[in-house]
Amino acid sequence: MASTIASAVLGVGAHFSYTSSVAFNQKTRRGSVSVRAEGGINPQIRKDETKVVDSVVVAELEKPLTAYCRCWRSGTFPLCDGTHVKHNKATGDNVGPLLVKK
Ligand code: FES
Repeated sequence: MASTIASAVLGVGAHFSYTSSVAFNQKTRRGSVSVRAEGGINPQIRKDETKVVDSVVVAELEKPLTAYCRCWRSGTFPLCDGTHVKHNKATGDNVGPLLVKK
C-alpha cells in the first residue's frame, strides 16, 4: 500500500512530497514502513555541481564529535546546523545528522 503522507512547501521555495508504503508480515508479525521523497532531495546546495560529494579524514577532525547533514537543508552543509528540526516539523520526516567520532 502506498500513499502520500506529507507534502510541504519549504522556505527555500522547493516543493517535496513523501510517499510511504507499509508492509506487514503475518508469519513474523513484524511490519516495516518505508518513506520515499519524490522530486529530488536537495533543494539548493551546490546545484551547479553534477554530484555533491564530500570526504573527510577522520583523524584530521578538529572536534571529537562532528555532525554531518543528511537532510540537505543545512546552512553550513556538509555540517549539520540543526535545520533538520524545522524540516521534520514541516514534513513529518525523521531525518537527522550523521555523527562522526574522532
Ligand atoms: S541540518 Fe541537515 S541533518 Fe541537521
